[in-house]
Amino acid sequence: MAECSNGQSRRFGYAGSVAGDDAGAGTDAGRDCAPPQHALLAAIVRSSHDAIVSMTLDGVVTSWNRSAEELFGYPAAEMIGRHVGVLWPENRGTEQDAVIASVRVGKRVERYRTWRLRRDGTAIEVGITPSPITDDSGAVVGIAAVCRSVSERERAQARYRGLLEEAPDAIVGINANGVIVICNAATERTFGYRRDDLIGQPVELLVPEAARELHIRHRAEYMAHPQLRPLAGHSQLTARRADGTLFPVDISLSWVETDDGVLAAAAVRDVTERLEAEAERDRLKAQAERQRLEGRLQQAQRLESLGQLAGGVAHDFNNLLAVIVNYAAFVSEEIEMAAVADPDRWHSVARDMQQIQRATERGIGLTHQLLAFGRREVVRPRVLSLNAVVSDVKELLIRSIGEHVQLLTELSTGLWPVKADPGQIEQVLVNLAVNARDAMLGGGILTIGTRNMIVGNEAGLPAGRYVAIRVEDTGTGMPREVIGRAFEPFFTTKPKGEGTGLGLATVYGIVRQAGGDVQIASEPGVGTTFTVLLPATDEAPAELEAPVVVGIPSGGGETVLVVEDEPAIREVARRILRRGGYEVLMTESPLDALDVARAHDGRIHLLMTDVVMPKMLGKDVAERVRALRPDVKVIFMSGYARPVLASSGTLEPGVTLLEKPFSEAELLQTVRQVLDGC
Ligand SMILES: Nc1ncnc2c1ncn2[C@@H]1O[C@H](COP(=O)(O)OP(=O)(O)OP(=O)(O)O)[C@@H](O)[C@H]1O
Ligand SMILES: [Mg+2]
Repeated sequence: MAECSNGQSRRFGYAGSVAGDDAGAGTDAGRDCAPPQHALLAAIVRSSHDAIVSMTLDGVVTSWNRSAEELFGYPAAEMIGRHVGVLWPENRGTEQDAVIASVRVGKRVERYRTWRLRRDGTAIEVGITPSPITDDSGAVVGIAAVCRSVSERERAQARYRGLLEEAPDAIVGINANGVIVICNAATERTFGYRRDDLIGQPVELLVPEAARELHIRHRAEYMAHPQLRPLAGHSQLTARRADGTLFPVDISLSWVETDDGVLAAAAVRDVTERLEAEAERDRLKAQAERQRLEGRLQQAQRLESLGQLAGGVAHDFNNLLAVIVNYAAFVSEEIEMAAVADPDRWHSVARDMQQIQRATERGIGLTHQLLAFGRREVVRPRVLSLNAVVSDVKELLIRSIGEHVQLLTELSTGLWPVKADPGQIEQVLVNLAVNARDAMLGGGILTIGTRNMIVGNEAGLPAGRYVAIRVEDTGTGMPREVIGRAFEPFFTTKPKGEGTGLGLATVYGIVRQAGGDVQIASEPGVGTTFTVLLPATDEAPAELEAPVVVGIPSGGGETVLVVEDEPAIREVARRILRRGGYEVLMTESPLDALDVARAHDGRIHLLMTDVVMPKMLGKDVAERVRALRPDVKVIFMSGYARPVLASSGTLEPGVTLLEKPFSEAELLQTVRQVLDGC
């Protein structure tokens, strides 16, 4: 069939007239009778690096060039006239039949990759481009096949294509004009287009209509200066599906130089699910934060109502104790004098009286803690440095916590001043330190630190500048349920008789009354940190008050006007002052006091008035009496401040306050101090 003497062969065109050098008679004959043009074509085919094979429509080989010999290991003489099927691996027969059938009916078949058997039985992967051989009338009379071994590069490329296909992100390659030239399977899934509908289209097809114009501009800029970069920045990018729906995406851009110019590759990821998950997480976080704040608010409300109850009871008790403590002192004095004369009769009674006095002192301590919790203590805030308070109280703390606990202080410099009652802050520190000690029975470290803090709205406090005191221990820690109740008065986990459960309640009341807050962070087995926040102040520090003189000084007949609505306390004050050498004028109401101040003949040296009375506040009484008698000195007496009159419960720095219940010594010392003007 391959011989040129065979008219059919000549009609096969170049493929039919060519074979390897040893192709035998057919080839020689072809060379002899071929016109010069054919000879040229034959030479091209012969020397081609591709294996070029021709065959009849039945698959019988009609020509076999040198590269075919090298590729498959069969000499032309052996293959010409033989069925090409000898090269097919067992499972590829049908594929080949299908290819031949397609070519036979004039269908175009693209280059395809397949496997072939070499003469030595080894398999090689080849790329084959089949084409029909037609006669002069255009009828298909044979098949020419150009074969090339699939190179490592091609195999690698195929693998990369496989990777591209498997990539979870849509990958879209565009040329410099923004035309899509390649895309992967994920692109079809993500955007809902068939690949064929995308290739050749402008990439803006995948961009929401509203953003297309901008996209074209950005694309042109990118192509002018391509670089590796994620897109977006601040705003979320959106892409458009084939059905017109929009969805959020993340896009990363890269680029590659090719023979056809720069290709940009966009890796597009649908982030709908991620954004939904993020939104859900944010929602849960916000919900948890809301619940936390609600929990804190509820706790604050519970403590507030407990405070009102406890404060109310404590107020009444305080007045009773004021009476008891002083009358007990009077009785005790009498008994002690009697005991000197008749010890057998009175000595044991004197001891009993001491028990009564001691119990009363303890009662006074407790009521003051309750008053502090109920925010009814009269406070005398002044501008101070918390560092100074910590330093002042350090010695006392070291003594209170014992040797097995080490005290460290971490005081930050440049601390803002706060306005607070230093005595109360000391009490806060002592209570917290004692609790820490109790939580570190086996020893540990107690750290007291201070620092400035800016608080936003989230903390349940007005936003602003605060100073934080941190009291941290390495003790037992607190379980969640204990943390939840720790500030309640009388809540204690300590054995009966060891703790009253008023320590933290006092801390809470003091800190809240000072406009701050106290927080607990604790982990069982690790330790506890209490953080007290107090508002920073812009006020300048006030002058320090003079220290109290000890000893019981007596009066020199000066006149004292006492205004007190509680008869028992009034009586106590009268008796103490009389015995102390003073003239006493008594009134139970502020208005009476003004009358007395107006009517009294002699000089009134001192006014002692309750801070809070039903008809008029102590401050106002003092003001009016001073208007009548400008040289009068004033002492305020108080055991509590009603929260409703919070401002009246706060005295200006510099005024003298005598806390009820007072002892004889306290009263007389204070009176003397004020009269002497120190
Ligand atoms: N630093 C701490 N470490 C572990 N638990 C603590 C700490 N501080 C307080 N607690 C727990 O909180 C409870 C309440 O403390 P609070 O100071 O109000 O009362 P108390 O110490 O039991 O008694 P009181 O202080 O009146 O003597 C304690 O009984 C304890 O269980
Ligand atoms: Mg305590």
